[in-house]
Amino acid sequence: MAQLKRTLLGGFAPLLLSGMLAAQVTTAAVAGEHDKHAKSYAHFNKDGDLLTPRNYREWIFVGAPVTPKDMNDGNPAFPEFHNVYIDPVSFAHWKKTGKFRDGTIIVKELVSVGTKESASGNGYFQGEFLGIAATVKDSKRFADSHNNWAYFGFESYESKSGAKQPEEACNVCHKDNAAEDNVFTQHYPVLRAAKPGK
Ligand code: HEC
Repeated sequence: MAQLKRTLLGGFAPLLLSGMLAAQVTTAAVAGEHDKHAKSYAHFNKDGDLLTPRNYREWIFVGAPVTPKDMNDGNPAFPEFHNVYIDPVSFAHWKKTGKFRDGTIIVKELVSVGTKESASGNGYFQGEFLGIAATVKDSKRFADSHNNWAYFGFESYESKSGAKQPEEACNVCHKDNAAEDNVFTQHYPVLRAAKPGK
């Protein structure tokens, strides 16, 4: 059996490798000249709800704000860690232009504080996944939203889709407080470092 597995793997490895190379070439190509028109990672159902993003943990990780319960009267608006990811094509566009393209999707995944001490010292260490929220920029679909960003809430990670939230529930705070085009880049060192022309 072990022998068979090795043979199978040996047989498939070159195939896998060439697949990966092809994928890299494709990514490089979309990230180039035509990324403005490249397909969005945001998908919608016919009611306009955002289909729950699935592979965002493999996108670009831009930061992890944390609003722990013990610093927010036990009840932060978004508990507790917020792991924030941007889709890779929009990140490439940001790197090149310093702008969020039409079709940008940013997911924040909520994670509990697991423990407050570890071998490294006292602090906040991530525990379990709690759910997600997301935002999408689209000048056609969300022509009426401030800066064309729409915000989506999801009942749980298992939900098929999430509903667009009212402008006052989300966009207003982002519009008033976020550093750049509704996005809290002041909390995302990865985006600041990648921005051109600093
Ligand atoms: C009172 C202000 C406020 C409100 C209301 C608010 N947010 Fe945010 N949001 C923030 C802040 C501050 C950050 C960045 C720091 C953090 O995550 O704590 C953020 C970050 C985000 C991010 C990551 C991308 C970004 O723009 O920085 C998403 C996605 C998001 N919020 C979704 C939502 C959704 C969905 C709603 C409405 C249900 C909402 N937010 C309502 C303040 C707010």
